[in-house]
Amino acid sequence: MRQKLVIGNWKMNGNRASNTALLSGIVAGLNDFGADCAVCVPAPYLAQCQAELAGTPVRWGAQDVSIHAGGAYTGEVSAAMLQDFGSTYVLCGHSERRAYHHESNELVAQKTAVALAAGLTPVVCVGESLEQREAGQTEQVICAQLQAVLEAIAPQQIADLVLAYEPVWAIGTGKTATPQIAQDAHRLLRACLAQRHAEAAAGVKILYGGSMKPENAKELMAQPDIDGGLIGGAALKSSDFLGIIQAV
Ligand code: PGA
Repeated sequence: MRQKLVIGNWKMNGNRASNTALLSGIVAGLNDFGADCAVCVPAPYLAQCQAELAGTPVRWGAQDVSIHAGGAYTGEVSAAMLQDFGSTYVLCGHSERRAYHHESNELVAQKTAVALAAGLTPVVCVGESLEQREAGQTEQVICAQLQAVLEAIAPQQIADLVLAYEPVWAIGTGKTATPQIAQDAHRLLRACLAQRHAEAAAGVKILYGGSMKPENAKELMAQPDIDGGLIGGAALKSSDFLGIIQAV
């Protein structure tokens, strides 16, 4: 049985005061929860997470990582730096990075490999655009995104991945994938994993992301291959984030 996992993706939001309010609200409300939970925050706030979340059940992590170990790479943040601040997770290949920073499948795969080598858990994001879905290319697109990652890591490392299926048309739009659409994509991704390592594939958590809210979380999480959520907008209010965790 895969333990459910709910991760908040804060994107480029927050400040020290609002973060403290949000984190303390989450910690205070996490009495009787049935899921693991984490927040992926802007890099400058990792130290704040370490200070305010250490000793609580809430894990933390980053939204991106450099493929380089160190040196003359202005603006980049290395996996060792994320480790230094106690990070557990790092998002790799979020659709906003693929779109706005032109991250290719190969670069995302490299980032995933670097994160794994540093002992971080990469949350590899895949998902099709509306045009791709309407052109019937969903399977091809998400399998190619995953395949690039699988080629960059060893089969036994599959067990250390978390995947997130985030249809681009559902992110921040209020348009959630139906539970059936999401389940079909998740089943397909698990089948792709299983071709490389059947046993590991059965244990990998595949999160759904894209306008998940307390009202739709229960039905989505009830699907057999949906193991949690990657939450954007609803992760910025502790009551909404807790509502999703409680829906598990
Ligand atoms: P959303 O974002 O929940 O606001 O749709 C999800 C994400 O981008 O990870």
